[in-house]
Amino acid sequence: MIELSDVVYCRVGTQDLESAEAFATTILGLEVAERTKGAIHFKSDNRDHTLCYFEGNPEDHVTAFELKTSAELQAAAATLDALGHNVQYGSPAECEIRHVREFIRFNDPTGNVIEFIVRPSMSAVEYHGARDAGITGFSHVGFYSTDVERDEKFWTTVCNARVSDRIGDAPLMRIGAIHHTIALFPGNKSGIQHINHQVESTHDIQRSSNLLRDKQVPITFGPGRHPTSSAQFLYFRGPDGMTYEYSTGVCEIHDEPLWRDRQFAFEPKGFCLWGASPKIAAFSEGDD
Ligand SMILES: [Fe+2]
Repeated sequence: MIELSDVVYCRVGTQDLESAEAFATTILGLEVAERTKGAIHFKSDNRDHTLCYFEGNPEDHVTAFELKTSAELQAAAATLDALGHNVQYGSPAECEIRHVREFIRFNDPTGNVIEFIVRPSMSAVEYHGARDAGITGFSHVGFYSTDVERDEKFWTTVCNARVSDRIGDAPLMRIGAIHHTIALFPGNKSGIQHINHQVESTHDIQRSSNLLRDKQVPITFGPGRHPTSSAQFLYFRGPDGMTYEYSTGVCEIHDEPLWRDRQFAFEPKGFCLWGASPKIAAFSEGDD
């Protein structure tokens, strides 16, 4: 069993790094951590960085998860190799760019590019967002999945993810106490479906809702409240159609032996207690 301890960063390609930086800082509220040739790394908490936009194909998405030791990483590589995944070890230069000790790269069964990393750097300086969005940190990702049953099996049997709840067939999975760190949504492609940052309070959700509206950033869902995790949320559209989410108040599951995943309907009320309707195709087969 591959033990993932946390999600660490996303890397997203862009053909317009300047606009991506403007969005990540002035809209989303992240802080530039480092500029390297053709890439910008952004901080959202006390880690070195949790998001990177790099010059490249906007459909190139990478998500990294932390493993505790080098020995676990090597065992994970052997497990994935035995299952037929093409596993590549990151070069020293790639490790340096990511500020990690070592990593492997492979594709999940849908084709999502995943990195398992060891010893990601913390930041020596506190995060100060370019705007006060109330962000407390990068928290979870949603992936597109061409076969959610197959991919749920990968994340829960090859890796240590546990299903907390399902909306339709879409599993919300935890790797720690937080209700979900990985979510899978049916789609006909691979890639990151949404990137979540936690914010401090309802106050931040409401303030951002008004700010995004004023700045004419498309709000695609919310403000609302998830019946699954009980988190209050706001979804909006970033560069190249990427969906970003702020949420606050996500529940934690501490009673592992007694928790049973619950089933919610794949319809607006399965996503929102307050009656909001998603304009996100992966949530509704509607707009995106
Ligand atoms: Fe989410």
